Amino acid sequence: MAVLRFPDQNRTIENEAEIRAELATAGIDYERWSLDRVPAGCSAEQVLAAYAAEIDAMKRRGGYVTADVIDVTPETPNLDAMLARFDKEHTHSEDEVRFILAGRGIFFLVLDKGVAAVEVHPGDMLRVPRDTRHWFTLCADRRIRAIRWFQDTTGWTPHYTGSGVDQVYQPLCFGPAYLGPRVETAIDNSIRA
Ligand SMILES: [Fe+2]
Repeated sequence: MAVLRFPDQNRTIENEAEIRAELATAGIDYERWSLDRVPAGCSAEQVLAAYAAEIDAMKRRGGYVTADVIDVTPETPNLDAMLARFDKEHTHSEDEVRFILAGRGIFFLVLDKGVAAVEVHPGDMLRVPRDTRHWFTLCADRRIRAIRWFQDTTGWTPHYTGSGVDQVYQPLCFGPAYLGPRVETAIDNSIRA
């Protein structure tokens, strides 16, 4: 489950309902979805088939026209260059919608009440409205797999603000030490179930 932090306020929220309510005040949707339909080592096509109902429902909900599966591992070619595109404050002209299947990462969101850091984990669905100032980093394990939705496949481009605010916040994930080895095992098992 996600962890929501407001670094400037030294405030951390780990309760699902509270995270959902807090983000909803900024128009950001946060939900927990089941992972039990994703078999071990499944292909992107199998993921899209397994979640066809949710994918179609989300398309109707937000006017998205397509969805895909992004799969990032430490071995992904040009990973540093890829990550560097998104770890500086930017906006998009369409929503950023992600359902996390594996791995983790942090979305930094610039909200009216300050910067929020949302550490997303498997089973988390996050929908960030267009024009929301944000940036994204992976955790130290540099692993994430997620379903993405698009309103316009040609329009999903970062528009950099150049504010430099992303330099102020440390991209610290709580990571495995925080989750604990038993919880990590449970997450892995849920993915493979
Ligand atoms: Fe983005």
